[in-house]
Amino acid sequence: MELAGKNVVVTGAGGGIGSALVARFHAEGARVVGSDLASNIAVVEANAARMNLARSSSAAAIAADVTTERGNQALVAAAEEAFGPIDLFFANAGVAVGRGLETPESEWETAFNVNVHAHRWAAKYLVPGWIARGEGYFCSTASAAGLLSQIGSAPYALTKHAAVAFAEWLSITHGDAGLRVSCLCPQGVNTAMLRGGDEPGAGPGSSVVRAAGRVLEPEEVAEVVVASIRAEAFLILPHPEVLTYLQRKTGDYDRWLAGMRKLQARMLAP
Ligand SMILES: NC(=O)c1ccc[n+]([C@@H]2O[C@H](COP(=O)([O-])OP(=O)(O)OC[C@H]3O[C@@H](n4cnc5c(N)ncnc54)[C@H](O)[C@@H]3O)[C@@H](O)[C@H]2O)c1
Repeated sequence: MELAGKNVVVTGAGGGIGSALVARFHAEGARVVGSDLASNIAVVEANAARMNLARSSSAAAIAADVTTERGNQALVAAAEEAFGPIDLFFANAGVAVGRGLETPESEWETAFNVNVHAHRWAAKYLVPGWIARGEGYFCSTASAAGLLSQIGSAPYALTKHAAVAFAEWLSITHGDAGLRVSCLCPQGVNTAMLRGGDEPGAGPGSSVVRAAGRVLEPEEVAEVVVASIRAEAFLILPHPEVLTYLQRKTGDYDRWLAGMRKLQARMLAP
């Protein structure tokens, strides 16, 4: 899909990957709605104001908490009121919380609400309209952890796998009705999430992700996303080696698990 002239919504637009996506989509000629928590919306508003100076009525900021169905419903309605029918919805907001079995239930709930349920709640209010129009594009940010697991965080590993599974299901179920679906699965990206990940209880440690491969800048990720959306590819892999790792995993699961255990032992060594 070409982005010029399209109406696009990006959640988690207050920084990191989401903010880079909004800027890149706008540069492609899209009208963009950036969304984030009310506590983080000021930066999205400032970015939208700058983009509107460059091209009038081309950007908006809408505060929404995607941990509830109502938050997602209200976001879809407000974005459609701002610019009309949404062409591309990018469910990018995410959290990295929790570690092992001791993770508090409240953190499990937050992880599933933001990383998984938000995707299906948004889709619930988007897909019927897209099917009626015969087209629409749903993109989600999962993670390489959704294909390969996450050393150090059960909630991140589970929810990101579930996000990939939901995107697959959407594509299988509605692809023939004109719905296009992509799923962004990066390894390390230089954002607040990666930089803040080493405190106890803060989820996947940044040292683990950094050791797994090159850390990209959010703008590099946005570049790959635009190319992949143009190609309408399901898997968006800013770190192309992730596909090789996935092939190794499915080619010999036991060998792959043994390798992951070795990697974990190396990372946890003092
Ligand atoms: N940074 C990495 O290394 C990395 C790697 C793979 C995948 N990801 C994924 O990329 C996505 C973007 O993360 P990022 O790295 O840019 O980190 P980030 O922390 O900069 O961005 C996440 C954004 O989501 C927002 N958010 C969190 N909870 C929300 C809620 N309830 N409602 C609305 N917005 C909410 C935050 O306010 C924040 O702006 C996430 O889904 C993350 O899991 C990141």
